Amino acid sequence: MPGLTIGDTVPNLELDSTHGRIRIHDFIGDGYVIIFSHPADFTPVCTTEMAAMAAYASEFEKRGVKLLGISCDDVESHKKWIKDIEAYKPGTKLTYPIMADPDREAIKQLNMVDPDEKDAQGVNLPSRTLHILGPDKKVKLSFLYPACTGRNMDEVVRAVDSLLTAAKHKVATPANWKPGECVVIQPGVSDEEAKKLFPQGFTTTDLPSKKGYLRFTKV
Ligand code: BEZ
Repeated sequence: MPGLTIGDTVPNLELDSTHGRIRIHDFIGDGYVIIFSHPADFTPVCTTEMAAMAAYASEFEKRGVKLLGISCDDVESHKKWIKDIEAYKPGTKLTYPIMADPDREAIKQLNMVDPDEKDAQGVNLPSRTLHILGPDKKVKLSFLYPACTGRNMDEVVRAVDSLLTAAKHKVATPANWKPGECVVIQPGVSDEEAKKLFPQGFTTTDLPSKKGYLRFTKV
């Protein structure tokens, strides 16, 4: 059975966090949320990721996106760990909540279990999963990384920018796209419709197939 994936509604779980009880759908409200898991508190890569997320928090806030961490230790452990995270990068303030999942039930429902990483008792740890959730409470995009690989926060910001741009205009973003660069017009949009949607114009790349599907525009 595949777990939670793109297009699915995130389960409306209610969990303890460093900011009190959180019900996921209420936390999302009518905005976007990045929910991201970590294998465990007081581990090296996780500490660097938590500090990096804290440093990028203002970038997400600017875009109207809230952060929600989850790790499988309890709230008391999270609170002590935050002191380490802030000491590791002096000047960092970790302002987003970290949810607790000590019995590891939530990570199953959120498709955040790493089958290869187990604690001393042989219980599976969370992977480095990150879901971007939309105002409709659905998963828009997921990263699924193993414990050995810390995530790149620039790529998380870039993915958010792509999702927000695609949601606003009828476009998609090409490989290695960055804000300000050309976007592509979605295949379902006819040339006639594209002329109305993009009065600024678009260019169609001449390809051997002559199918005219690679159309670039600026939004
Ligand atoms: C880490 O955060 O460094 C880590 C956590 C679990 C397994 C391996 C690495």
